[in-house]
Formats: sequence, structure tokens, C-alpha cells
Amino acid sequence: MAAGKNRKGKIYVLNGPNLNLLGLRQPEIYGHTTLEQIREAVCQSAERQGWIAEFRQTNHEGELVGWLQESRERAAGVILNAAAYTHTSVAIHDALHLVGKPIIEIHLSNPHAREPFRHHSYVSSVAKGVIAGFGMNSYLLAVDAMAYILG
Ligand code: DQA
Repeated sequence: MAAGKNRKGKIYVLNGPNLNLLGLRQPEIYGHTTLEQIREAVCQSAERQGWIAEFRQTNHEGELVGWLQESRERAAGVILNAAAYTHTSVAIHDALHLVGKPIIEIHLSNPHAREPFRHHSYVSSVAKGVIAGFGMNSYLLAVDAMAYILG
């Protein structure tokens, strides 16, 4: 795929609460990379593979639900780091059922190696797959996986 040819459509890359503070937030767990640095790397990787990454972050559950509803019409696939809502949100679980496109759940850390309350995910059962524990590379691996799935 020639670089810069964004002719396949959009991949939504959606981020939940507190991820705006990456770089400052518990760097021993989440690393020193900022969300802006992740955004740049994700957008470049998507573009190299012929996709446009629509990269967003919110601290509000309802806004995330709205974006998932929007993705139904506007995205070819969704990469989602729902952050803490992963473990709490039935509303996001229900919205994911409406998406009708491939969904990849991602996490910077590996929630299964952390506190028990992080072991359950309301996202996983609706996702095509889960990538967790690789820091910023979780995002880049998900872009590659999504590009592979969508062809
Ligand atoms: C996270 C893991 C979640 O358990 C946590 O609440 C987050 C970030 C991750 O990317 O590792 O906010 O989704």
C-alpha cells in the first residue's frame, strides 16, 4: 500500500477515562509515553496501511457510548481502550453490540496481572480479540490486526 493513500476508510481508536494523563499517570504501570505520542504513532501506522485513524479520548461514559453509536455508520472497525469502564460499564457493552463492525479491545497494561477487579471485562465478549500488556505497542499491534482483518 502506497504511503498517504487513505482510500479504505476510517478506523475509530477510542480511549476512555484518565488516558489523557498518560505520561504522568502511574508511569511504573503505564510508561512515560503520552497519549499525543500514541495518537501520532497510531495515525502514521494507519495511514501507511491505507486507513485513517479517528483517534479520540473522553473521560465521560456517555460520550464513549455516543462515539460507539456513531461508529456504526462511519467506521470500518473500532479499536477500544475503555480504561476503567472496561470493568464497569454495561452501557458500553450494549453499545458495542450495536457497532456491527470488528472491535479490538486493547490495554497498555495486562489487567489479568493486576487487581482482581480488573480481571472482568464488559468489552471482551463483544470483541474480535484482545491485545493487552504491551504499552504503546498494544495500539500499534491493534492497528496491524485491524488492517489485516479488514483487508
Ligand atoms: C487500562 C487498564 C484498566 O484497568 C485501567 O482502568 C485503565 C487503563 C490499560 O490501558 O492498561 O485506565 O485500560
